[in-house]
Amino acid sequence: MSNASQPGKSQQDPPSFDDIPIAERETVVELAKPKSQLLPWLWGLGGFGTIALLSGGGWFAYQAAQTRSNPTVAASPSPAASLSPQSADERLLNHFAYPEAPKSELEPISADGAMKMRSPAARAFREMAAAARAEEVILNPISAFRSISEQQQIYFEIKAERSQTLQERALVSAPPGYSEHHTGYAIDIGDGNVPATNLSPDFEKTPAFQWLSKNATRFNFELSFPKGNKQGVTYEPWHWRFVGDKASLETFYKSKEFQQQQASPSPSPSP
Ligand code: DAL
Ligand code: ZN
Repeated sequence: MSNASQPGKSQQDPPSFDDIPIAERETVVELAKPKSQLLPWLWGLGGFGTIALLSGGGWFAYQAAQTRSNPTVAASPSPAASLSPQSADERLLNHFAYPEAPKSELEPISADGAMKMRSPAARAFREMAAAARAEEVILNPISAFRSISEQQQIYFEIKAERSQTLQERALVSAPPGYSEHHTGYAIDIGDGNVPATNLSPDFEKTPAFQWLSKNATRFNFELSFPKGNKQGVTYEPWHWRFVGDKASLETFYKSKEFQQQQASPSPSPSP
């Protein structure tokens, strides 16, 4: 069921439970504070105007350096701005760059609280799962928000275990910093009645997938990586994303790279 254009090895190594985080971890990103010890030295240079000039320039240089080294800490006045397409201006191994959703914007979607999504997506998923359950279809959340450090483990540790190249690994897993799961809008869904199909192409044969294909748009969810997708990522029938408000829509549809990709010819025919 993998994309027919993908090189051979990945087709023998479909994603598995290994592709979800072993445990939820907290990633605290803090801006380093400017060193106050510099102040006496600056006073020594003489003149209040000099200090104002240097500290102002230093602040801007510091912010620019932080933004370059880690898009997650790009100065941002609001959560929506932190997910703006202006910060998603890079691609790596066919995946788009995404900053982590602020933890304050996440809420649980599972009973034990381990899996979280951005609040509007979490609400929509709960409503969708309830509607499915009313028809005896169990939408089982497998993995939702993932931090960049969790994705780092998923990408590199499993790559090493499977002796995959960077390119082979990227067919089924985004590099850290480039997963839709960072946004808090993406979720991997299994069929609670057919758990053997979790994270497998066979998920498309389940009642859960059939229900989602018919009803997910009603709850503003869509498949991120359909068969023959232009991004060149292997078909993932279990991976859905929320596109039901301005911030989520802009996150996935507004970047310059996304527009260029849409305008380009498809890399391969659908299998
Ligand atoms: N499996 C998808 C591509 C991810 O790792 O985000
Ligand atoms: Zn996923």
